[in-house]
Amino acid sequence: MMSQPNKPTETDTITQVLDALLVMLRQMFWYLGRHLKRHPWIFLVSCAAIPIFLLPGHWHPTPHSLKGWEHILPTWSWIAIAGVLVANMGWISIDEQAYIPSSNLDFENALKQAGLWDHPKYRTPQVVLKKEHKNWLEWSITPTVPVDVWTKSDIMHPFCAALGVEKFSRVFRDKHNYIHLVLSRSHFPEQVMSSALLGPLSPRSLALGMSLEGICTVNLDERPHLLIAGQTGSGKSVLVHHIIEQLIRKNWHVQLVDPKGGVDYADLESYLSGEIVSHAEQALPMIESLWELHQERLPRLKQWRVTKWGDALNMGLTDEPDHVLIIDEFAIFANDAKDKAKKELAARAQNLVQNLALGARATGIHLVICTQYPTSDLLGNQLRQQLVPIAGYLESDVASRTVLGEPGAEQLPGQGRFLIRQPQGLVEFQGFLPRV
Ligand SMILES: Nc1ncnc2c1ncn2[C@@H]1O[C@H](COP(=O)(O)OP(=O)(O)O)[C@@H](O)[C@H]1O
Ligand SMILES: [Mg+2]
Repeated sequence: MMSQPNKPTETDTITQVLDALLVMLRQMFWYLGRHLKRHPWIFLVSCAAIPIFLLPGHWHPTPHSLKGWEHILPTWSWIAIAGVLVANMGWISIDEQAYIPSSNLDFENALKQAGLWDHPKYRTPQVVLKKEHKNWLEWSITPTVPVDVWTKSDIMHPFCAALGVEKFSRVFRDKHNYIHLVLSRSHFPEQVMSSALLGPLSPRSLALGMSLEGICTVNLDERPHLLIAGQTGSGKSVLVHHIIEQLIRKNWHVQLVDPKGGVDYADLESYLSGEIVSHAEQALPMIESLWELHQERLPRLKQWRVTKWGDALNMGLTDEPDHVLIIDEFAIFANDAKDKAKKELAARAQNLVQNLALGARATGIHLVICTQYPTSDLLGNQLRQQLVPIAGYLESDVASRTVLGEPGAEQLPGQGRFLIRQPQGLVEFQGFLPRV
């Protein structure tokens, strides 16, 4: 009678005991794994010693009158095995003092664990407001951890530490007294949220992400067209999403060509000018109409005696906003189709895009071209020279050279990390992740 209501409790207890055992087992394997990694010779000699002690007959004569446990192993074998285990555990615990097992530490806690937090040299980097300009705020990042702290290849790039966006799996001091902050892969990379950091920018600039120098921006007046290259998963669509959001806030006209039918941009679709198109056949008329707009705006600029659409807007000569054409995958215009009509269509589209890239900087028409495989067939030299190159992770240094003119993008971690060619050189940034 009494046992009935107790039953679920018993099951609970068993589950709890099993859970605890599992945790202990995992902990044990973790210790063994770490021991093997840090002291492979001690570990291997111990492993070899135990079976040797387990073969008593082989190493020493078994006495005839054995009792109890001695039937299984002679006493001195037990003592030897216990000795090996105690020596190993002792070694681990001494070693432990130089090692702080921890997980999921942010930059501040990682440095605190390492006892470096109060050290003036290792102050936490922070994004701080540097200067308030008329229309925008200038942000900067305070000094970061010196590079000599990062002594191992599996230790992260100091870039993210500077942003305080990485998580560390462990912190330890090695025998040379170097501090190792080991990046936690599962948290890589953490996000840089846009709205927290984004101050009002100049009205004709875009904010792309966070770099060591602060917010990474591109001025569309000076550099009107962008090329965003990167493998799947490098973060192109997230970056484009963020760009579109900003363009919409500026009340610019945004048109989107996306072979995936706009699945990444569903929340923005109602703010775009026209429907999202997914085929080259539908995209061509879009590009043609932009070309016509360009042709139509040129004489007006002449008549107003201004050289840039932005200037005409500033002077109040017009209130027609800029237009931006975004092509999420430029390979839809690849010239490799067997079908002759398709080939012609692709060639015409490529030609028009190139002409727009060359001429439309004056007429307030901008291009944002994304591609996974930036071959030189797809992106001719002339076209590439007109675009601001932004590269996410690319599979090879050859691809990186095609986009940026130098290697580097093949070493990026993906997921929103990019290199952009700025006037002062290549700049690495972590793209903003829209706040959801
Ligand atoms: N700025 C970012 N910060 C953090 N994670 C990102 C960022 N950009 C992209 N990611 C991650 O990478 C994944 C792939 O991004 P996506 O833009 O779809 O890549 P692509 O379009 O290049 O294939 C996203 O689902 C997201 O998890
Ligand atoms: Mg994409």
